[in-house]
Amino acid sequence: MTGQYDRRDFLRWAAAGSTLALGTVSLPGCTKQLKGTPPQIKAAPLDTVRIGFVGVGGMGSVHIKNLLAIEGVQIRAVCDIVEEKVVRIQRWVQEAGQPTPAGYWRGETDFKRMCDRNDLDLVFNATPWRWHVPICVAAMEAGKHAATEVPAAVTIDECWQLVETSEKTNRHCVMMENCCYSQWMLMVLNMVRKGIFGELLHGQAGYLHDLRALKFSTKGEGLWRRQHSEKRDGNLYPTHGLGPVAQCMDINRGDRFDYLVSMSSKSAGLNLYAAEEFGPDHPLAKQKYALGDINVSLIRTVNGKTITLYHDCSTPRPYSRIDLVQGTKGIFRGYPEEKIYIEGRSPEHTWESTEKYREEYEHPLWKALGESGGMDYIENYRLIKCLQTGAHPDMDVYDAAAWSAVSALSERSIAGKSQPIDFPDFTRGRWKTRQPLGIVQA
Ligand SMILES: NC(=O)c1ccc[n+]([C@@H]2O[C@H](COP(=O)([O-])OP(=O)(O)OC[C@H]3O[C@@H](n4cnc5c(N)ncnc54)[C@H](O)[C@@H]3O)[C@@H](O)[C@H]2O)c1
Repeated sequence: MTGQYDRRDFLRWAAAGSTLALGTVSLPGCTKQLKGTPPQIKAAPLDTVRIGFVGVGGMGSVHIKNLLAIEGVQIRAVCDIVEEKVVRIQRWVQEAGQPTPAGYWRGETDFKRMCDRNDLDLVFNATPWRWHVPICVAAMEAGKHAATEVPAAVTIDECWQLVETSEKTNRHCVMMENCCYSQWMLMVLNMVRKGIFGELLHGQAGYLHDLRALKFSTKGEGLWRRQHSEKRDGNLYPTHGLGPVAQCMDINRGDRFDYLVSMSSKSAGLNLYAAEEFGPDHPLAKQKYALGDINVSLIRTVNGKTITLYHDCSTPRPYSRIDLVQGTKGIFRGYPEEKIYIEGRSPEHTWESTEKYREEYEHPLWKALGESGGMDYIENYRLIKCLQTGAHPDMDVYDAAAWSAVSALSERSIAGKSQPIDFPDFTRGRWKTRQPLGIVQA
């Protein structure tokens, strides 16, 4: 059996102490599916996109700056639990020549008041992970589109909540995966579409980023991210590496994730770091961390592609997302430096620099916008452009659910001694007929 869930199964697992969603009680695999084929989400074009923004810490501030640089965007409301952060963004918006946005800072659920405003089209959030789904759901229930930072959801139940609410309300729910707009992964997508790698067979991806200092910081993500390492073992942050590979592989659009197995090393890095920084008797050095330092998951798609996906944020190491795509005619890898091999074009058995392929295969989005703002700007530009033209977003609610689901599924696999676990089909069969993401223009 490949990990089909039922409620009894879940209760056994939960009783064994393996259910670890923070802030919400959730039932992995609790699939409150709609009957029949879900409606296609289709939204009318908007001349101006009026935004309410929730969570203006590190990443939220980056988004605000980018959004203020895009024509046809108005920041109408800002929400954070810290008043000074709201006031700072109100000042930025004023300085950009827009009216002062309304401020919301009356606590952790004040976003609900903001969602009820009748002058917003989009509620965008860059809050800690436990708030992504409650905010997106409140936004869509109030008739607004939703955009969220990554990962969109922590549990499988939350993934379904996003899908079902989006379908029920006919509002888009977009997970803002900026790494899908990196220069080289855009170029790789363009090359994939032109058949340069032949038929895709395999990908390698990950999030390998030394976050030890950040996890013990007394500011920003230090206030919430370490709690996940204390309680959960799995791939807690899957989408940066996985998203671009999934787009190349037409996941949810011709193929879909079928099942995964996952395994973690022991946990050592956070204890060691805390002992060195704060002393061996400090509570943070003695704390037990559930998260294995190096997690590797292996995903197989229904059409027979494989992906290895790493998560490693507690060891000293240079940054990497791996970014490897391999097909029957060639292979690309992004880290530690961009290299490519194309059969018949590259010298035999030799990795080449990608330089000579740039001219021919640079993605039109990067050609038009790369210089002006890079991937963070382009992801916001594309979201706004799609809402303005009524086009389907590059990444939709099914991508948000399938890419984010890896966290809960890997936790589940590890709890079952690397048991294979099935992915839910969030599209409910529509993946067979949905069209692959094309090469979109600016
Ligand atoms: N795409 C990327 O490259 C990238 C980079 C960094 C962070 N992120 C993601 O962005 C999100 C935020 O991360 P960050 O680094 O900005 O963290 P942060 O802690 O700096 O910012 C979070 C903000 O949310 C506010 N907040 C917390 N609870 C809230 C609530 N209930 N209502 C309103 N505001 C609330 C906090 O006060 C803070 O200002 C996370 O999901 C993270 O994974 C993505």
